[in-house]
Amino acid sequence: MILLAFETSCDETSTAVVQNGRVLSNAISSQIRLHSEYGGVVPELAAREHLRNLIPMARTALREAGVAAAHLDAVAATRGPGLPSALMVGFKAAQALAFVLHRPFLGIHHHEAHLYSPWINGDPPASDFATFQPNLSLIVSGGHTMLVHVESELNHHLLGATLDDAAGECFDKVGKLIGLPYPAGPEIDRLAERGNPQAFDFPRPMIHEPNDDFSFSGLKTSVRYFLRDHPGLLEDAGRVRDLCASVQAAIVDVLVTKTLNAARRLRVPCVTASGGVTCNRALRRQLTAACERAKLTLRLAQPKLCTDNAAMIGILAERQLQSRPKPHLLSEEVLPDWDLAETGAASSTHRT
Ligand code: KG4
Ligand code: ZN
Repeated sequence: MILLAFETSCDETSTAVVQNGRVLSNAISSQIRLHSEYGGVVPELAAREHLRNLIPMARTALREAGVAAAHLDAVAATRGPGLPSALMVGFKAAQALAFVLHRPFLGIHHHEAHLYSPWINGDPPASDFATFQPNLSLIVSGGHTMLVHVESELNHHLLGATLDDAAGECFDKVGKLIGLPYPAGPEIDRLAERGNPQAFDFPRPMIHEPNDDFSFSGLKTSVRYFLRDHPGLLEDAGRVRDLCASVQAAIVDVLVTKTLNAARRLRVPCVTASGGVTCNRALRRQLTAACERAKLTLRLAQPKLCTDNAAMIGILAERQLQSRPKPHLLSEEVLPDWDLAETGAASSTHRT
């Protein structure tokens, strides 16, 4: 089976061709520069940029895969959650393509697809996904922070999520306070590598609470007060590095501790992580060390596949088509607020 997938839920336009659990091509065009002067993603600009890029990028994905459109067996796109106007570009283009080619169309849940990205192009390859179930999945990006219990293929429970800001949002908002360009996560990661993570003591919100939810808005506020109480600190490059390292340490500590707590409680043998924040080097190191200590297998998405990409959409669509060949209707609409727990009817996903 050869499948073309589109992902346009936020500020990455991505197109991919997958075949039998393998990614033949995965083109990603980031709009970061377009949005950085506004300090965040501007939905209308994002949609226009997707419109400009999608068809050329579909051609790129097909060319790199060495596949003609006529040879596609199915077409898929992200249905939600995401920015409504951005989602519509990829979703409607995929439906139109499926219509003219007379092929099945699948609308895919963005977070459910993230669960598959740690398995793509990895060792073992995605087709061995089932070997590592059940597992505990951390999805951590600019828009979301959540823990998902993957019990078996296409069957997962949302355990908990952030009650306010996502971890990536916290990185970005703290970066703004420090004066770093959007998105600040990668720059904080870079500065923190040469800073002292114990220099300043920031709160670890909800770290000891007996649930799987997160909260990061209080941490951002404490950095705001810290900067108010330490005027001039931002003029000292060394102290800025210490500040970045200390804030990063608080975020990573919460993510690692809560992930490991849930994994232990559920007695899963494997932990996975994906989403833009999974690029963070301290998070990768500390999750690796914690899983080694707890004798858990860890699968981290490759950095290129941590951020939003169409490969994960295509891999999940293919598995859905193979396991329950029930293509979706071309009249379906995007679901900008689609909750992972609401995919239950389609994929036996529930919130516990
Ligand atoms: O998954 P993603 O590309 O888009 C969505 O938010 O859906 O994630 C982007 C987020 C941004 O908040 C960005 O600052 C953060 O991931 N990020 C990082 C790093 N790379 C990206 N945060 C911390 N360290 C990084 N190395
Ligand atoms: Zn995402």
